[in-house]
Amino acid sequence: MALYPLVRPLVLALDAERAHRLTIAGLKLLPGGEPAQPDGRLSVRVAGLRFPNPVGLAAGFDKDAEVFRQMLGFGFGFVEVGTLTPRPQEGNPRPRLFRLTEDRAVINRMGFNNQGQAAACARLETRRRRAGIVGVNIGANKDSADRIADYAAGVRAMLGVADYLTVNISSPNTPGLRGLQDKAALEALLAAVAEARGAGPPVFLKVAPDLEPREVEDIAAAAIAHRIDALIVANTTLSRPDLRSRHRSEAGGLSGAPLKELALARLRDFRRATGGALPLIAAGGIENGVDAWHRIKAGASLVQLYSALVYEGPGLAERINGELKRLLIREGFRNIGEAIGAEAR
Ligand code: FNR
Repeated sequence: MALYPLVRPLVLALDAERAHRLTIAGLKLLPGGEPAQPDGRLSVRVAGLRFPNPVGLAAGFDKDAEVFRQMLGFGFGFVEVGTLTPRPQEGNPRPRLFRLTEDRAVINRMGFNNQGQAAACARLETRRRRAGIVGVNIGANKDSADRIADYAAGVRAMLGVADYLTVNISSPNTPGLRGLQDKAALEALLAAVAEARGAGPPVFLKVAPDLEPREVEDIAAAAIAHRIDALIVANTTLSRPDLRSRHRSEAGGLSGAPLKELALARLRDFRRATGGALPLIAAGGIENGVDAWHRIKAGASLVQLYSALVYEGPGLAERINGELKRLLIREGFRNIGEAIGAEAR
């Protein structure tokens, strides 16, 4: 979108959540674009799916599956909608979304605000089969008495409309949710998810960047044992690296540029812990082709981004794909597949 530099000051002048709502409303007015065509150098196969390019839109942008067609039309190789909970919920009181412009970062404590799985399911059902790759990210309602049952219900509700499902146990904004990353809870959760999925689509597991080495080992082992198809590393961080912006002390998950180093370090940890046995999807602070390239060489088969979109505009996916192609050629790789984990070998 060549226009974004003109629109950007207006977007950045608005309260962050209003800007997001206006963006979604504006996107809904656009016709859905044609999904990216598989590119000989950039297309990647993960979990039986052929991704036309490795650059995906991370969860949280299109929570209610309203604009996935438009986002696919901007050149993303895949779009992850959600997080969706079984029942609709309001999320936390506002303000709950903050731009940290000087840090190229975002802090959010949205708390899984969403219209619920039935509403999203109805929208996703109207999708032409095979028109782009759409993943559905699922979570638990805040007031749920049985969170594991919420995930199992989510899998059953969404498996017919998703190219893949993401089990999100790493949002910092639903109290106690990250506790599902602990060994015993995770084993129970993944067993329930596997049973609910049956012969359904691939299931990815999305983890936090705030994990100790022991936790990384346990999660990697459980994911392999329960035949998870890929790990998404990572969600937002509760840590606070040095930040300059006015909103730096807000509570919530931090994303964008300050998350870059932490997310890359965690990706390397998971690559080591899985020994390449499990595909990895990198997220956290990816802003350009070089960032994406570093993650791929560190072991990521795919990447996802959200925060950089706020600062760079919707042309970003195309730009990163162009840069990736140039980097591949410059470093002598024929395609992305050859470069995945090149640094770890
Ligand atoms: C998110 N993210 C997120 N993740 C998730 O699994 N479910 C969700 O509902 C949300 N919601 C959400 C809202 C907002 C406003 C932001 C900024 C982020 C996390 C997101 O998918 C991603 O993992 C992180 O933001 C790290 O990537 P970026 O943003 O640094 O590219």
